[in-house]
Amino acid sequence: MTWSPTYSLSYMFIIFLPVTVSGQRSLSCSLKHLRVRFEYKYYQKGDIIIGGLITCHVDAVHTPRIKIDQYINILAFIFAIDEINKDPDLLPNITLGYNMFDACGSPRKSLKSAMQIMSGKDKEVPNYSCVDDGEVAAFVTDSGSDTSRALIEFLSLYRFTQINYGRSNPLLSDRVLYPTSYQVTPDYQVRNEAIVKTLKYFGWNWVGIITPGHGIGEMESEILSKMMTQHEICVDFIIKLDRDYVMDRKGKEIIKQSWAKVIVVCGLFNKNYAFTIHEAQTDNITLILHESWLGIANLHHFLYQSVNCSLIFLSPKKAIPKINVIQNVNSFTHPYDPLLEDILFILYGCLTKDKSKNIFFTWFYKKKRAINCTEIQGLPELFYHDPSLYYVYTAVHVLAHVLNRFVSRRSSLQTHGLRHKLSKYIRNTVYMDYSGDPIHFNEKGKLTSEWHLENIVFQKYQERYRINIVGIILFKESLEEDLKPLNSVIGNMKWKNNRVREDK
Ligand SMILES: *[C@@H]1O[C@H](CO)[C@@H](O)[C@H](O)[C@H]1NC(C)=O
Ligand SMILES: *[C@@H]1O[C@H](CO)[C@@H](O)[C@H](O)[C@H]1NC(C)=O
Ligand SMILES: *[C@@H]1O[C@H](CO)[C@@H](O)[C@H](O)[C@H]1NC(C)=O
Ligand SMILES: *[C@@H]1O[C@H](CO)[C@@H](O)[C@H](O)[C@H]1NC(C)=O
Ligand SMILES: *[C@@H]1O[C@H](CO)[C@@H](O)[C@H](O)[C@H]1NC(C)=O
Repeated sequence: MTWSPTYSLSYMFIIFLPVTVSGQRSLSCSLKHLRVRFEYKYYQKGDIIIGGLITCHVDAVHTPRIKIDQYINILAFIFAIDEINKDPDLLPNITLGYNMFDACGSPRKSLKSAMQIMSGKDKEVPNYSCVDDGEVAAFVTDSGSDTSRALIEFLSLYRFTQINYGRSNPLLSDRVLYPTSYQVTPDYQVRNEAIVKTLKYFGWNWVGIITPGHGIGEMESEILSKMMTQHEICVDFIIKLDRDYVMDRKGKEIIKQSWAKVIVVCGLFNKNYAFTIHEAQTDNITLILHESWLGIANLHHFLYQSVNCSLIFLSPKKAIPKINVIQNVNSFTHPYDPLLEDILFILYGCLTKDKSKNIFFTWFYKKKRAINCTEIQGLPELFYHDPSLYYVYTAVHVLAHVLNRFVSRRSSLQTHGLRHKLSKYIRNTVYMDYSGDPIHFNEKGKLTSEWHLENIVFQKYQERYRINIVGIILFKESLEEDLKPLNSVIGNMKWKNNRVREDK
């Protein structure tokens, strides 16, 4: 019995997550110009190179923007590499380098960047390295979105080890198709098990599902409905939305008529999806949401009511050691960091060093006045709370430990063909992270997963709504526990329309 019921209200905290700075259209990632206007790459020479593909700009057609939390992932990546290089025991006499690009959330841009990393420098010849630099051993990628499939397929074709720090994705979890792909974030399948256990605990055996009719959501809804049926939970309806996340009239009618007191909302958060849920009249229905739905805090508060008092499963928040090192990053410590320059322009109107960029950005971001910032500017503290920091950091450290195993079995460092051999060593690598948690990939290519069940409540503070995330219980993989500890915290949970729980 290793439940920790103490993980309850004491852990209540308040966050307001402006995860993205909604800018206007960013040409830096424009799909039209594969020769991108401003390329964002980070490179350091080394005996062995780790490739990185991190999405810092999103170029959706209507709402492209720069993602500051993703930029901080780049800082965590570089910090981890520096830390490993300073460690006298981990990879003695080997310097780790990196080659990292902004993948812009675009399959074409990711593939192009992956090829550039494989071949070194700016050439795009994938199976051939044309620089006198260390061999690229593996990639760290964000594969949590619907668009990452092309990249994972491409890297698998060349048998590159990939450590993914994006959200666990059922579309990319096939061990036969992607045998060299590994995941450091908690497994979606463990989350599904936790959902089923929660439904059973509350006696909710009459349940609805809403899902986009494509991508991650669709696959998730199929897996979940099968699991529910196996556990004698009746799936009253599955409503599939169209490509634009619109629900037809029939769907709305089904929800109105149904007796289901709970609906599982499958798939990733999206603005249109939020509007659809808002219109679906789920006032008296408890929703179970994907963690990406925290993004709703960025939208207008009239949407909050529809997801108020929902249940949500979140990845555990783990800190990285010495986070102050990256918290201290600013215009003074990193004067030549192109993404940081851009972010400081957007946040504070600070001019960049590039004159033509300044002209372009002033027009593009509609800044009335950009200034030569003389004060040292850093990033707002709240961006450092993102759980993905720990996962990026862990992804890089895992690779260092695997490389350590690899080289310690050889008299000299022969890195030739390293990438084909690395994956074999991954499964046998076990180490303790700095907090004492074991890091080891199972046969599914995942680490041992944990999920926190939380209750999200939008509370008004003065004039603004804030999202309160109230921790309820921790689900650990493969523990055959009952949920008795829930009894002690159940009274603290908030239900829609101030209802008292009437379900059991
Ligand atoms: C590292 O290099 C030094 C000097 O070449 C050598 O004496 C030492 O044995 C090397 N260490 C390892 C672990 O290979
Ligand atoms: C890449 O090169 C390796 C060895 O040099 C070869 O075995 C492999 O088939 C090549 N892969 C592709 C997809 O061309
Ligand atoms: C929700 O429940 C309240 C009180 O029972 C009721 O007045 C209201 O009409 C219900 N809303 C919907 C959308 O069914
Ligand atoms: C959410 O629910 C809580 C508790 O019932 C309530 O106090 C709060 O006003 C609700 N928020 C919104 C946005 O409806
Ligand atoms: C900003 O000020 C510094 C120091 O006064 C100067 O060197 C630099 O050229 C200025 N930059 C711009 C874009 O005006």
